[in-house]
Amino acid sequence: MEDTVKETYRAMEEAIVSLAKAGASLGLVNHLRTMAQVAIEDSRLDLALLNVRAAIEWGQKVGTANLETLQEMEARLMATVGVPFRSVVEECEVLKDQVRRLLRRAARKRMLEGKLNPDLRFEYEVTAREFETIVEPATVCEDLELFSLEREVVAGRMVIELRANATPVTVPSIASVAKRLELTTLERDVLVTAMMPAISEDFLRAYMRVWGDYLKREPDVAFLSTLVALNEAEEREARLSLEVDSKLVMLRMLTLHAPEGRDGCQALRKAVRVAPWLVRLALGHPQPARHTFRFSDIASKVATVAADALPALNPIKTFLGAEGAGLLVLYGVERQALESAVLAASAGRPVLGVDFTTSSEDSSGDEVWEACGEAKGFGGVLVLDASEALEGNKDRVARAASAVVSWGQKAILLVTEDPERLPIGHIPSKAVRVETPDMKEQTRVWEVMLGDKKPKRPDALYEVATRYPLSLAAIVRAALLVLQGGAEVTGEVLLDAARSQMPVRSVRLSQRVPPGFTWEDLVLPDEVLVALNEIVTYHRYREQVFDKWGFRRKLPYGRALSALFHGPSGTGKTMAASVLASEFKVPLFQVNLASIISKYVGETEKNLAMVFDDAARSKAMLLFDEADSLFARRTTGSTAIDRYSNLEVNFLLQRMEEYDGLVVLTTNQESLIDSAFKRRIRFKVHFPAPDAALREELWRSMLRGVGAMTKQIDYAALASRYELCGGAIKNAVLRAAFQAAEEGSPITMGHLLKAAIREYKESGHLVRERDAAR
Ligand SMILES: Nc1ncnc2c1ncn2[C@@H]1O[C@H](COP(=O)(O)OP(=O)(O)OP(=O)(O)O)[C@@H](O)[C@H]1O
Ligand SMILES: [Mg+2]
Repeated sequence: MEDTVKETYRAMEEAIVSLAKAGASLGLVNHLRTMAQVAIEDSRLDLALLNVRAAIEWGQKVGTANLETLQEMEARLMATVGVPFRSVVEECEVLKDQVRRLLRRAARKRMLEGKLNPDLRFEYEVTAREFETIVEPATVCEDLELFSLEREVVAGRMVIELRANATPVTVPSIASVAKRLELTTLERDVLVTAMMPAISEDFLRAYMRVWGDYLKREPDVAFLSTLVALNEAEEREARLSLEVDSKLVMLRMLTLHAPEGRDGCQALRKAVRVAPWLVRLALGHPQPARHTFRFSDIASKVATVAADALPALNPIKTFLGAEGAGLLVLYGVERQALESAVLAASAGRPVLGVDFTTSSEDSSGDEVWEACGEAKGFGGVLVLDASEALEGNKDRVARAASAVVSWGQKAILLVTEDPERLPIGHIPSKAVRVETPDMKEQTRVWEVMLGDKKPKRPDALYEVATRYPLSLAAIVRAALLVLQGGAEVTGEVLLDAARSQMPVRSVRLSQRVPPGFTWEDLVLPDEVLVALNEIVTYHRYREQVFDKWGFRRKLPYGRALSALFHGPSGTGKTMAASVLASEFKVPLFQVNLASIISKYVGETEKNLAMVFDDAARSKAMLLFDEADSLFARRTTGSTAIDRYSNLEVNFLLQRMEEYDGLVVLTTNQESLIDSAFKRRIRFKVHFPAPDAALREELWRSMLRGVGAMTKQIDYAALASRYELCGGAIKNAVLRAAFQAAEEGSPITMGHLLKAAIREYKESGHLVRERDAAR
């Protein structure tokens, strides 16, 4: 059946050729119309439309009376053929078909040139000029097979064009990317043909067959430009779209590489590679790959909710709405506040860009270009995020900003520093300061988000906002979590959700102590546990006592929650601090005081200020080890150095006093610490070396639940014989476990004794002969 249809086409095409030779005639118009009707019956609506259009064109020349019916037919066909793409996946299938047509045509051409299957002969001897006038674009063609293949290509282009135009730009698609970037038909074709081998192996194989090289894995410039072009003019245009200064290459949608092992090859042989974001899009990911923000997925929600809660919003909106290139510098201390402002102002448009924390030095030029292309392609807002990576990167950031503007693009630069100090003076830019949203603004966003689901208690929202100051985007996320949870929204539920959104930012010059220990893990004398409990109580009721009961006025200072943990090494000081941090649900950061003390005037204060500033932002609990290194040195201030060290001490005390969270100082040498300081610290907890009973408990606790262990363990003996601290007992247990593992046996009393002796020796004790012999 199909063959008969094909035969009919051929016969008619031959007829058209002879009619066309004779010049415009009614006969030709009628023939084209008949061909259109046959094509409709064959469900080839694209070819039908092509023929109807040709018939109209010829009809206008010869002045046929039937133009109206032809135009009606055209309109009907357009309505059926030119339907919008529903998704990028559907579009991609259509584009694949088109590339298949291009490939068939290229294969046929190569065959005709004798480069492919030379034994195949022409079936038709028809000369070029006879076709030229029939179908646009004018095709130099000597082969009827090739001719009809090219007509298929033209029909395919036409349909793609129609459908792309019908597709709204809001539907993520290659068509919308092409529209936003104002690509020409050929530029789009070049992009699509370059993309196919990256999307499917089948295409790669087909390409290899057509170009006749099975080693090359990427199409080159010459191949792509002949593949997409139907004539010489098109080929020139396609070549130009692959030049280094073309739009596609400038914006790194396509990159040109020397194929492997062929450095400095000529321009035509350069391999063409497609930007990963385009491949992703073509594979059906409707979101930009280059999202820089944590809250991108709720951007439109943030935009609707925060619309009136942010004063900085209007200048940002104006900037985004304006025509032309430009740079807007947003600065403020809180990265997330900056993020919220951008998301809110971008009103649901995707926000994407370059994050200088993660991007690498050498690739940044390419990266910025590519980000520009992706932002444009998605109709997104381009952000250069240097909010956490300005230090040491200033020139790079400035270069990127300057590049974006000079390429006629628009970007928002995020920094946490006054832009006056950035080397961007030469770039026309505007700066807007973004304040961290205050309590009122935060409460409002909570209110808007929760609506009638908000807790009955009137001050519940205010309490969340004070306890966990969040950016607007973070509040939106937290509130969404609460609402999705479906449970009744109580103050507790809100606090939990808010806490989950607190950014854990690192504190410079310190290490995070990973959480994990619980009260059950702590083996301590009762009086230590009581003291720790007192700290918990103080923390829990601090607000109530000072704020609600009015003690703040009576005690203008001395309210800070500071503690000194002193005792031998390995007695659980760090561990106890970590349990407290878990109890308060805050991250714990450990600073070695000795390491941040500097002999340079003013440096120690700077270091301390940095630590406290960072800690305040992440609401962290701070643990200063080796407190004696600073506090033991208080003197009468007779020499210059001493005076400075007193300044440092006073500075630390003052920052501790102002600090909202808990600060714990630890020392192994309490006796060295000046008593004047001890008075200023609210809680002093002594962690003694454990006695025999506690040691037994420590051994038991560390071995509890360990499966690979013999039953006969004499805990009392281990405890009474070796005066070890918790830390040493933990080490001994680990040592025994590894020893046993190596021997392929369970942990025995022998292993434990041996390990205990080793620990005992290492802690500087003498060991009795009898024990050492074990
Ligand atoms: N009281 C204890 N209860 C349970 N385990 C303990 C105890 N003390 C120490 N450990 C174990 O020893 C390890 C080391 O203890 P930790 O780091 O808390 O000691 P520290 O008092 O901070 O010592 P340093 O003064 O050297 O910093 C802990 O991780 C824990 O496994
Ligand atoms: Mg410690």
